[in-house]
Amino acid sequence: MNRLDGKVALVSGAARGIGAETAMRMAEAGAKVVIGDILEDRARDTAKAIAANGGTASFASLDVTSEASWAGAVAAAKKQHGGLDILVNNAGIFLGKDFMDVTIEEWNRLVAINMTGVFLGTKMCAPELAERGKASKHGSAIVNLASVAGIVGSQLDPLYSMTKGGVTLFTKSSALAFGRKGWRIRVNSIHPGVIETDMGAQTFASRAKQLGSNDVDGARAVALKQHPIGRLGVPDDIARGIVFLASDDAGFMTGSGMVVDGGLTAQ
Ligand code: NAI
Repeated sequence: MNRLDGKVALVSGAARGIGAETAMRMAEAGAKVVIGDILEDRARDTAKAIAANGGTASFASLDVTSEASWAGAVAAAKKQHGGLDILVNNAGIFLGKDFMDVTIEEWNRLVAINMTGVFLGTKMCAPELAERGKASKHGSAIVNLASVAGIVGSQLDPLYSMTKGGVTLFTKSSALAFGRKGWRIRVNSIHPGVIETDMGAQTFASRAKQLGSNDVDGARAVALKQHPIGRLGVPDDIARGIVFLASDDAGFMTGSGMVVDGGLTAQ
């Protein structure tokens, strides 16, 4: 189940957090993984950790806001591993601010990473994914990191919610577009609840601020209460979902969103 043997995967923002865990799980499932990130040292450490675990991984310098940078990462995947079967559009940022306090520079950066990054990743990887999809049983795969904030409004960051709503619908519309072209690329999104990563910690700090205190532990407890399952998520919870969506076990899924949120949006 959920095997990726012989596949090559490019994961954006894979130096740490959900992306790093996804790269690790994909390598365990048999994929060769390209770690794309702006955090070079951390990304190289992630690639080394994968190699130490018996997997195959390489680093590609990738700023998701730059078309030229994507071209370089795709070329690196082809050169080092012979092609590209899977793209995980994972890189993302969170502002954690009332939109009344957000500057145009902050907004432009948020949009550049969370939305332009997904557009460019899809555009720049699609030709190679389509090529490899021809010979694959269920085609190639793109998995986009949306969020529960791409399904319901975020209390903490309405602008982040806007970008993730965009990712949710671009997942569907790009899946339709590839279908129309006859390009065998499945596109699905994943919608995590609150996950314990650097970004997760940032959400606790924002919540504390919103509650008018510096009580980050108290804010964390509030977030915990919103998850009926009784705990917050960890990167592994999401990585396993991404591996499934990228694998042939999800061969009849495209244009779908997989919610992995401990029941947060069931309420
Ligand atoms: P994180 O902050 O721990 O890691 C994000 C990674 O993206 C970092 O390695 C960072 O260097 C990289 N990155 C940032 N800007 C980049 C750029 N311009 N080019 C290339 N890489 C860049 O975040 P986390 O928690 O691992 O989040 C991963 C994805 O999951 C994001 O898209 C996020 O919005 C989404 N998500 C996270 C949730 C959480 O609670 N942690 C909840 C729902 C969705």
